[in-house]
Amino acid sequence: MRTTITIRSTALSLVLGLPERGMPEILAFGRAVAAPEFWPRVDRPGRVNGMDVSVPMSVLLPTGGLGFFGWPAIAGHRAGRDFILGFTGWHAEGDEAATVLAARDPVARIGIKINLKASAHGVISMSIALSNEGNDSYWLDRCMAASFLIPDGPAELTSFTGMWGREFQMRRAPLSNGLWMQENRRGRTSHDRFPGVIVAAGGETFGFHLGWSGNHQIAVDTLDDGRRLVHLGELFEPGEIRLAPGESYQSPVAYAGPDSAAFHAFVQEELVSWPGGRMQPRPVMLNTWEGNYFNHQPASLMAQASAAAALGIERFVVDDGWFGRRDDDSTSLGDWTVDAKKYPDGLQPLVEHVTGLGMQFGLWFEPEMVNPQSRLYAAHPDWVLQVEGRPLLLSRNQLVLDLTRPEVADYLFEAMRAVLASVAITYIKWDMNRDLTHVGGADGTARTSAQTRAVYALMARLRQAFPDVEIEACASGGGRVDYGVFRYAHRIWTSDCTDAFERLAIHDGAVQFVPPAMLGADFASSPCHQTGRRLTIAFRALVALAYHLGFEINPLELTPAEADELRYWIALYKRLRPLLHAPGAFFRNAPQDGRFIWGAEGQSRIVVFVAQAAQMIGEQPPSVRLPLKARADGGQWHVAAIHPAEPEFIWPSKGQKALLAGEISFGFDSLRLTGLPLPMLRPESGVLIELERIDGTAIHSGPATADGA
Ligand code: DGJ
Repeated sequence: MRTTITIRSTALSLVLGLPERGMPEILAFGRAVAAPEFWPRVDRPGRVNGMDVSVPMSVLLPTGGLGFFGWPAIAGHRAGRDFILGFTGWHAEGDEAATVLAARDPVARIGIKINLKASAHGVISMSIALSNEGNDSYWLDRCMAASFLIPDGPAELTSFTGMWGREFQMRRAPLSNGLWMQENRRGRTSHDRFPGVIVAAGGETFGFHLGWSGNHQIAVDTLDDGRRLVHLGELFEPGEIRLAPGESYQSPVAYAGPDSAAFHAFVQEELVSWPGGRMQPRPVMLNTWEGNYFNHQPASLMAQASAAAALGIERFVVDDGWFGRRDDDSTSLGDWTVDAKKYPDGLQPLVEHVTGLGMQFGLWFEPEMVNPQSRLYAAHPDWVLQVEGRPLLLSRNQLVLDLTRPEVADYLFEAMRAVLASVAITYIKWDMNRDLTHVGGADGTARTSAQTRAVYALMARLRQAFPDVEIEACASGGGRVDYGVFRYAHRIWTSDCTDAFERLAIHDGAVQFVPPAMLGADFASSPCHQTGRRLTIAFRALVALAYHLGFEINPLELTPAEADELRYWIALYKRLRPLLHAPGAFFRNAPQDGRFIWGAEGQSRIVVFVAQAAQMIGEQPPSVRLPLKARADGGQWHVAAIHPAEPEFIWPSKGQKALLAGEISFGFDSLRLTGLPLPMLRPESGVLIELERIDGTAIHSGPATADGA
């Protein structure tokens, strides 16, 4: 008789059977399943794969050998010996919310601990620690953080691809037999292989994610009975993880969730550590990059800050170019002292001006990097990651510092501490502009894993020293977006592409795992600096408004009419952000015929964005059906407002005009089941529709407020 263990979140349950020998069997996984009563008593078939013993297939973190013929999630050896692991003596501590399973392999002398947690928002997390209990080194070739089980039968997997400026492009494909594998070897989370997948199988949908900013593997292994194990973990270079006697390997954390709403609420409410313990309304930001690039002129920046404040902007972030002799991207990374040529009086006058306007001040750093042309490199050429006898490969003229060396981490901490302590900085844009190529430490061994941990340690140290400082995670745009960095970061710079047309798909992909409140979306100039595309102010504002709104403009270049228009959108963002950023309020429809639909649902107000990218193929669009949460008391609703006042609709009918003017009311279920019959939109245009509940006493929100309740 096996012992069963249940981990139960508000949405997902995981039921495990602890064996006498081998890994825990996954007896059930999915939407709030009850513990399957018969599994503890009914064994799997006596003969599987010709073995005379019953070897369960659907196990957590299967090890190779001993009758399991699938993809092993853990593999290692002692100089070639002890290549098989078989754990015994399993015991569990904890409850349905948090359990630790522990066991030992007395032959290979390895201990294992599996950490399982159920979140109050429906997400289950898993991580593992392996310890070397022997007297000699143990090399870990592979150690996944988690395995999750998905049902047999047809299954569709969504993964994320892309490149610089075009991140989070979703691709769907049916899962077949054999192994589906994604490997990231870029040393940062990457633009092209986000560490997460969505799998639809057996009538359920699951999201899986590895919270890790380094190399990773995601393997989906189809078992003999058609079910599939999804494994997520770090990817190691050869020889990278050697455990000395008594040492342990701690994996990153992997997450499973039922949908984006659960992931959003989990991240925002449980994972992120907000200054003061709670997320404050996300301030409208202005980032100086596209408006100034390296050309920093304090007088102009002050004037820009004043103009920004007059628009309603609440945070002013000085991007790259303020330090060393940084007039272009060829020099000075590593020299984190203010450029006295550009800022003869230091940053103080600018910071005082910005904070005097009631805005927060933020500053850009790229701590992990050094230019060969810098004082730091001249003094410490040995501080960079390198492999003896191999060429140092530059990327954007820069090399990567070996943060695993304490003196390097201490130098960076001290340099950043000095800047942060000298002026009132409450925000860091933490950039990282190259992939890692020759990640060798002083001893010649690979170091990607240790480097990733060292980056986290530096972030943690700075956050501890400056608990009120928020961090924006940026890596040439969205190259470091994952739940590992979200333990320290509060916003992501989603993409260097600020073209609203391209951003539609980028946001649609990123928001699968990133809460809208943390997804950085900046309004930028037209023509767009990356694509040359020209787009209206309304379209650019609409595409950014549901997320963490920012600006990449020089506000001094706006005409009075443009400034007025921006003031309107900024005021609207401020009014709607409590609802747009309420945990779990966000919804979206899968894009269809160039049309993107997203929004947020509150008790008495629903906000819907509809944007048309390319021209539609269909002669008429289908009605806008909203994926809203069912509720018993649906009530009567109407359109309370639309933005802009005159959207670029094509041939609206009389009835549609009346609907949009709020003259027609409808039941809540119509929204879900029949949808809003909206007219076609011109390409590259959009509309924001505020729906308001108009019946009964349950109305909490007047036209001037938005409730996230
Ligand atoms: C890449 C970032 O993604 C940009 O926003 C900007 O900060 C530049 N780096 C500055 O070098």
